[in-house]
Amino acid sequence: MAQEVRGVIAPGKDEPVRIETIVVPDPGPGEAVVRIQACGVCHTDLHYKQGGITDEFPFLLGHEAAGVVEQVGPGVTDVVPGDFVILNWRAVCGRCRACLRGRPWYCFDTHNARQKMTLTDGTELAPALGIGAFAEKTLVAAGQCTKVDPAVSPQVAGLLGCGVMAGIGAALNTGGVTRGDSVAVIGCGGVGDAAIAGAHLAGAAKIIAVDIDDRKLETARGMGATHTVNSRTTDPVEAIRELTGGFGADVVIEAVGRPETYTQAFYARDLAGTVVLVGVPTPEMKLELPLLDVFGRGGALKSSWYGDCLPSRDFPMLIDLHLQGRLALDKFVTETIRLDEVEKAFERMHHGDVLRSVVVL
Ligand code: APR
Ligand code: ZN
Ligand code: ZN
Repeated sequence: MAQEVRGVIAPGKDEPVRIETIVVPDPGPGEAVVRIQACGVCHTDLHYKQGGITDEFPFLLGHEAAGVVEQVGPGVTDVVPGDFVILNWRAVCGRCRACLRGRPWYCFDTHNARQKMTLTDGTELAPALGIGAFAEKTLVAAGQCTKVDPAVSPQVAGLLGCGVMAGIGAALNTGGVTRGDSVAVIGCGGVGDAAIAGAHLAGAAKIIAVDIDDRKLETARGMGATHTVNSRTTDPVEAIRELTGGFGADVVIEAVGRPETYTQAFYARDLAGTVVLVGVPTPEMKLELPLLDVFGRGGALKSSWYGDCLPSRDFPMLIDLHLQGRLALDKFVTETIRLDEVEKAFERMHHGDVLRSVVVL
């Protein structure tokens, strides 16, 4: 029997979000219905609302979520009702060329639920990133559910569903940060701070946080930054070189998504170092670099998408590390809010006042 629940809808371009009744169908083959317990507010939700991703309104927003599996469809064996899970927006196929070559984070054939959730008048909803978790319940592909230790609080667990995983994974998976490395992180919002936490976890010897806002640099210290540079007042490339014996950092992580910060990252790394782009640029942005510098400086230029994560490998591990007191994921939750406070949370996010607002249901 289809169920009716409350959910946060973006009805049209730049219109305020509102709570509506959502119809959630019974799970079909390979699908699951999850009772959402917590869901973080991410920039991507705001981009959906602004019409910056697609124009298939109305959207059911929310995608950084954790909850309990309530029902599973035919053929689902990896999760059962009652399992505590984190949702992910890249359920990999396991069969495509990328998956078979051992790089499932580049999977060509990720999947979501096949059935649609609707409004009560039958209007089909487009769930944000194939999840739609600012709702009491949502319908997903079973492969989007990863079981983790239920001892963790839902508001902390949900963080790994997107931004915090993107940052930690940029350091651990894409950047390959290892013990003794020097690491610089440009842009210390939620994603950059997560990269700092990841570098700290990996045993980086120096972690240099760069931002234009002193409040962000203060928070970055709490995440594990050993040095901070305000790039409004100090040239970050020079400062990073100075702090690394004149060489530059082994790994520089760019978590803003702008040409000028990417250029800083490019020049702030050691000759054989790695630059990881995790900030998402807009389509019109262009990068201009002397080709001779690209040639002469060697090393690697990489981008990191969802932290090159493999949810079934990374989510349980990171939750275990958190429960052991080795990864302070709780520091990313600035505030918990109700479902009807999402619009206000967008406002606060826009002003840079929060790392994460998390809806708790
Ligand atoms: N130099 C350094 N830091 C900057 C600059 C700059 N020129 N411009 C902005 N910043 C800082 C801001 O002060 C803020 O602390 O970058 C940080 C961006 O943080 P948030 O806006 O909170 O964004 P976040 O959620 O961390 O995401 C960062 O990663 O995944 C992507 O889409 C995401 O592109 C976004 C980026
Ligand atoms: Zn695949
Ligand atoms: Zn997100």
